[in-house]
Amino acid sequence: MSKMWGGRFTKRTDPRVERFTSSILVDYRLARYDVEGSIAHAKMLGRCRIVSAAESRRLVQGLTRILRLIERGRWTPDRSAEDVHTQIQQELERLVGPVAQKLHTARSRNDQVSLDLRLYCREAVSRLTMGIRGVQRSLVHLASSHREAVIPGYTHLQRAQPILLAHHLLAYVEMLERDAQRLDEARGRIDVLPLGSGALAGTTLPIDRRYVAKLLKFPRVAANSMDAVADRDFALELVSVLANLAVHLSRLAEDMILWSSDEFGIVSLDDAFATGSSLLPQKRNPDVLELIRGQAGVIVGNLTAFFTMMKGLPLSYNRDMQWDKRLVFESVEATVAALSVLAPCLRHLKVRTAGLSRLLDESLCAADLAEYLVQQGVAFRQAHEIVGKALALAERLGVTLRRLSASELTRLSPHLTRTALAVLNPRRSVERKRSEGSTNPSQVARALSRWQRYLRRKD
Ligand code: ARG
Repeated sequence: MSKMWGGRFTKRTDPRVERFTSSILVDYRLARYDVEGSIAHAKMLGRCRIVSAAESRRLVQGLTRILRLIERGRWTPDRSAEDVHTQIQQELERLVGPVAQKLHTARSRNDQVSLDLRLYCREAVSRLTMGIRGVQRSLVHLASSHREAVIPGYTHLQRAQPILLAHHLLAYVEMLERDAQRLDEARGRIDVLPLGSGALAGTTLPIDRRYVAKLLKFPRVAANSMDAVADRDFALELVSVLANLAVHLSRLAEDMILWSSDEFGIVSLDDAFATGSSLLPQKRNPDVLELIRGQAGVIVGNLTAFFTMMKGLPLSYNRDMQWDKRLVFESVEATVAALSVLAPCLRHLKVRTAGLSRLLDESLCAADLAEYLVQQGVAFRQAHEIVGKALALAERLGVTLRRLSASELTRLSPHLTRTALAVLNPRRSVERKRSEGSTNPSQVARALSRWQRYLRRKD
């Protein structure tokens, strides 16, 4: 297949080199952005009289026909092409004839590929943000349908204190919100027009970069042509935001995997979102959640691969950078897919409300008892010690705290009365919390309606 650079070569490229250097099977995903960029470029060439108005129109017509094919899903990558830019250039030549050869005026594939990737990343940010909103909505839905449910909260995977299930779920809504914010901030640095930088130094032709920026809706034009073709930090930043998001999703997946086991018994997966075992007829496996948990490894790995690939590259463009697209595409596509299956999977989770009290016992309220003593004027260290001793005594006698006699208790502290012991109740424990951001039910209810309103506005 013909190349965009054959002129100074006297020999045909070895087919092994062609195969090795080709990126079409990865970068075909850029086809639409490549054509959109070329349409803007062709319009600019006409407006600046670098090509005639008629030539510009013809280029735009040909490119628009290719764009329609792509949009209708009728365009396929040609395995023999070096890359997507080359394939589209050749298709344009077939469609509009020799005038197609004027399209690449004042442009290099170096600024073109950066433009295409920026357009891809910009759209990816929107798709990813929508995906995040979907998962947030499911979490809020699940939380608001189970406002009363109290479960143990864990540290070190040991039961620690009673919390509202809704509070646990809303923690993930907060994390995902920061991911959405990071995506939005990354968008600002993606949204810079590299086109017009040429191979690296700019061009002698009278181009109008601002006009191209306006057509492609870029608020800014890259200030340095070398930077524009050499750096990929905008894409690295996106992959890094995705790594953070993937880690959040993997933790959410892990919590749901644990919760859906019979040992925890907090939720059960809907049949439509669970998978079976080929051997064990009774199994209902959380494969979807496990794949999401494992995916974080791939995405964090891609970030490392990307950093390592960029490190130490001399300015400006180097072919090493062709690897960037595989890493970006895989990270984006896997994340979009994970978000879009996770949203319905969460929405259809069933909470096993009836069995939850089995997970709770009064010892989870030990800190509440210590804080009660603090309110009676006992220093916290001492209160901690008193409650510790009471727990040890109860354990020795094989009873619960509430079963200890009044004298056994008041021997430890005069404040350890029946009223004091009334705080040893998981429901009361969450109700008695009062600090801002705590699991207190009215605070959680306020947080829920704040999220519901917020997410409705994002529709
Ligand atoms: N396929 C190349 C890439 O992805 C396009 C840029 C090629 N530029 C070059 N000077 N060989 O990076």
